[in-house]
Amino acid sequence: MASRLSFIPTPDFPVQVDIFPRPSQRFPCFTLPPSNSYSTVSSSKAISSSRREPPAPSAVKEELIQSASSEPTHDSKTTPSSSSKLVLVVGASGGVGQLVVASLLNRNIKSRLLLRDPEKAITLFGTQDEDSLQVFKGDTRKPEDLDPSIFEGVTHVICCTGTTAFPSRRWDGDNTPERVDWEGVRNLVSAMPSSLKRVVLVSSVGVTKFSELPWSIMNLFGVLKFKRMGEDFLRNSGLPFTIIRAGRLTDGPYTSYDLNTLLKATAGQRRAVLIGQGDKLVGEVSRLVVAEACIQALDIEFTEGKIYEINSVEGEGPESDPQKWQELFKTVEGH
Ligand SMILES: NC(=O)c1ccc[n+]([C@@H]2O[C@H](COP(=O)([O-])OP(=O)(O)OC[C@H]3O[C@@H](n4cnc5c(N)ncnc54)[C@H](OP(=O)(O)O)[C@@H]3O)[C@@H](O)[C@H]2O)c1
Repeated sequence: MASRLSFIPTPDFPVQVDIFPRPSQRFPCFTLPPSNSYSTVSSSKAISSSRREPPAPSAVKEELIQSASSEPTHDSKTTPSSSSKLVLVVGASGGVGQLVVASLLNRNIKSRLLLRDPEKAITLFGTQDEDSLQVFKGDTRKPEDLDPSIFEGVTHVICCTGTTAFPSRRWDGDNTPERVDWEGVRNLVSAMPSSLKRVVLVSSVGVTKFSELPWSIMNLFGVLKFKRMGEDFLRNSGLPFTIIRAGRLTDGPYTSYDLNTLLKATAGQRRAVLIGQGDKLVGEVSRLVVAEACIQALDIEFTEGKIYEINSVEGEGPESDPQKWQELFKTVEGH
């Protein structure tokens, strides 16, 4: 059902507890749009992020160009100048999702975002050509928001939605793990056309062990169980999937959100990547590494139909080299 966009600013509150405990983060406030913007946009209508000026548009744009040619953190050396892909990113305002989108923009890969609050796209990604970045408003808990038009022309999907493992303000409005990680993923997958070339779902390590300590503590409110149910639904959907189960996430979400900040994000010392299968890997992983793994998996054929765990540790990493990622994913083949 179509719904009007509300202009309530994003509350500025700390996230209390996450799936793996980590220091409090803050979500940004954003400036209210001029009164003629978005006032009649329905839930399934595309919104170009170029319709309104971002906080510092020229600086952001300039930085993007500079970054594409010289910034080593989101390395573009192997990136084609344009792509036939159109990637739908769900959860694009989140820690991993925002890095996925910045990286797709940096690679000149077209993306479409499904956001509960499309205003966040402007804050995060600034002014972009409508052809490069489109924004749809939608809540995965509501099947009526997942209009087929959202998937028109989409070739690949990366889903990084999630909420906190324990009760927090991010559960407001019943946005609980059951609603997001299970029902939301189920609704999204159910709405997907069979023409998709790949669906990448970000999940969590521990989903197969949620009744065992210490995972049972993390799972007190069902987050691991519901993530597993979401995974299973995708696995049984007949769609070409890859599931990336992340360890405890480090780096970000970035509090000074904008494209400039996102493009400068680094995995710090934690650049070396460990890939596992069978839910045996336990550890931490940089959000940047998870975002890169999702993007790389789209093009590595043998990752289709597979589930991987991912960690990152101190050391040199694959950055955005497709060959190195292929070798990394290959290391667990047949184990
Ligand atoms: N934190 C960890 O240590 C850890 C470990 C393993 C796995 N994971 C999983 O890894 C993934 C990425 O984590 P993250 O920390 O980057 O995520 P995050 O920052 O919590 O972002 C979650 C994203 O999901 C969106 N979302 C939430 N409810 C939604 C709904 N009902 N409809 C549509 N979108 C919705 C949020 O949008 P809004 O802006 O509208 O809220 C946001 O874009 C998540 O699945 C998380 O559970 C996390």
